[in-house]
Amino acid sequence: MSDQVKMTTMNYAADRPAAENPLKIQDLSLRDGHQSLFATRGRTEDMLPVAEQMDEIGYWAIETWGGATFDTMHRYLQEDPWERLRVLKKYIKKTPFSMLLRAQNLVGYRNYADDLATAFVERAAENGMDVFRTFDALNDYRNFETVVKGIKKAGKHFQGCICYTMTEPRLGGDVYNLDYYVQKAKALDDMGADSICIKDMAGLIAPYDAYNLVKALKAQTKTPIHLHSHYTSGMASMSMLKAIEAGVDIIDTCVSPYALRTSHPAIEPIVMALLGTNRDTGFDIRKLAAVNEILEREVMPKYKHLLDTSKMSVIDINVLLHQTPGGMLSNLVNQLREMDALDRIDEVFKELPRVRKDLGQVPLVTPTSQIVGIQTVNNVLFDTPDERYKMITAQVKDLCFGLYGKTATPINPDVQKKALKGYARGENPITVRPAEILEPELEKAKKEIGDVAKDIDDIITYAIFPTTGKKFLEWKYGKTKDMPGDKPVSLDDVKNMDALIAKAKAGKVMEIPDKPIPEKSENIRTFNVFVDGEYFSVDVDPTGDFQPVAMAPRAAAPAAKPAAAAAPAAKPAAAPAAAVEGGTPLTAPMPGMIIKYLVEVGATVKAGDPVVVLEAMKMENNLSAPVDGTVKALTCGAGDTVAKDAVLAVIG
Ligand code: CO
Repeated sequence: MSDQVKMTTMNYAADRPAAENPLKIQDLSLRDGHQSLFATRGRTEDMLPVAEQMDEIGYWAIETWGGATFDTMHRYLQEDPWERLRVLKKYIKKTPFSMLLRAQNLVGYRNYADDLATAFVERAAENGMDVFRTFDALNDYRNFETVVKGIKKAGKHFQGCICYTMTEPRLGGDVYNLDYYVQKAKALDDMGADSICIKDMAGLIAPYDAYNLVKALKAQTKTPIHLHSHYTSGMASMSMLKAIEAGVDIIDTCVSPYALRTSHPAIEPIVMALLGTNRDTGFDIRKLAAVNEILEREVMPKYKHLLDTSKMSVIDINVLLHQTPGGMLSNLVNQLREMDALDRIDEVFKELPRVRKDLGQVPLVTPTSQIVGIQTVNNVLFDTPDERYKMITAQVKDLCFGLYGKTATPINPDVQKKALKGYARGENPITVRPAEILEPELEKAKKEIGDVAKDIDDIITYAIFPTTGKKFLEWKYGKTKDMPGDKPVSLDDVKNMDALIAKAKAGKVMEIPDKPIPEKSENIRTFNVFVDGEYFSVDVDPTGDFQPVAMAPRAAAPAAKPAAAAAPAAKPAAAPAAAVEGGTPLTAPMPGMIIKYLVEVGATVKAGDPVVVLEAMKMENNLSAPVDGTVKALTCGAGDTVAKDAVLAVIG
């Protein structure tokens, strides 16, 4: 035991004497926990059974919002993100709420204008947010200025993050060394941070680096230091313990059903490890066990189909080898799988550090992890021996222009020049705070969405997510029956599935029914069932008093394969290339969603002119006319999900 942590009492009781410097804990189960383990698909109704009990634990804060929740809720869960805050607040009355705020990116994937950022923070505070954990993907704190003003104005807690990243296997090197982090902490102090978070989004921080880093920061500032890490690499619990020994004030954990794998350290072992020391949390382990039990029995079964069980190992040593965040890695794998190019993953790993270096050694966190990741995949798939960066995404162009902020090292000038050739905002990159050049956008959004929005929260939803936000609002207010996203799974569904698996194991799945086979209803869902190395594809069609809530494959929008069961909300993909006559088809090089067409039928285009914007893995790609000619047909509409090779336009 370090001299920093002393044993003071062995009393197991919950009313044991308070520790001299109790460790504070923030729970992440209701946000980053399910974001990490099952793609942010956790529903509010599944948080309520434990909400009141979690309020009794004594957490410093409970993370309830932000990150990907806002996107996922309206896109896939038929839930209004604002409503979750208000509902949870009714049950969690004592413990402050915290959210992950992507600074000027808010809860989206680009920098928004100041008027929208200000309105968002004001509405979040008004709806119940207390702690604003704020980060910028580039650690460019000019992107904090507007939101911090709003957080302070609302009288809320501003937690400033330093995104933890590395270019070497361990802390150090030319870019991300101890001095880098100390300077960032000082900058946060100058901005009036109420606490400082080391945000290790990829689970890269090694125990002794955590110790040295926390020690260095504690020596430089009086501001409380908070450590956030992920379990992905297997180091997080060790790193937390070393950080505790170094005097960290607050750490992040999950209740154990939501912990480990790509999620976070489990709270229970940490509470036990510190019991009776001067850092004792004072938490009642039996209260935690009660929460654990409910989650394990009533909640987690509904999500087990979303858990990645493709490998036995709980930890992912690829993170240690490639320093890629777990979420980013699974995105890359999905993207390659959709393109039938999974065999090229090693090329992607080789290309990734090159792209990252070209793009200024940016930290890999949302959205930069996607920006670097998708560009890397594009390079591997579309580059030719004599041309690199053949298909540059709109987001890489924005990054090269300076729209995300200042990168840690300068962007490769050749790549920058190529990316900005013909770029709409201009070919010379900016050096000012990115939002300085953004026109106010709230009023414009308000006009566009019109009476589909009923209040300011709706307008903000639309402003941040114009395509999916509009779809959601139209559904929410009954303007369309076209329900967005996936239907939930009930415990009965789970029981039926388990019964099927048992049947499959007993070899009884193939029995010939002695009754007529019923018609398949629209609620039918296909499950892939893996039993002891064998594989069954099973259609499940709920019967009886089934409520119209069911489940669909996890990737409704960009990823649905044409051959697999398409998500219910997805429109049919366009006709295959072979079906087109009288012109040259422009086909989708990857599966995705149509954002908009840039031309109209009848327009004259030259080969290379942009025709349509296709969103794939949340990145926008301009697809260009393959030949000179007239636009004969535009085969899809904005918001349509399309498969790889779908015809998007015909030029003749
Ligand atoms: Co995280």
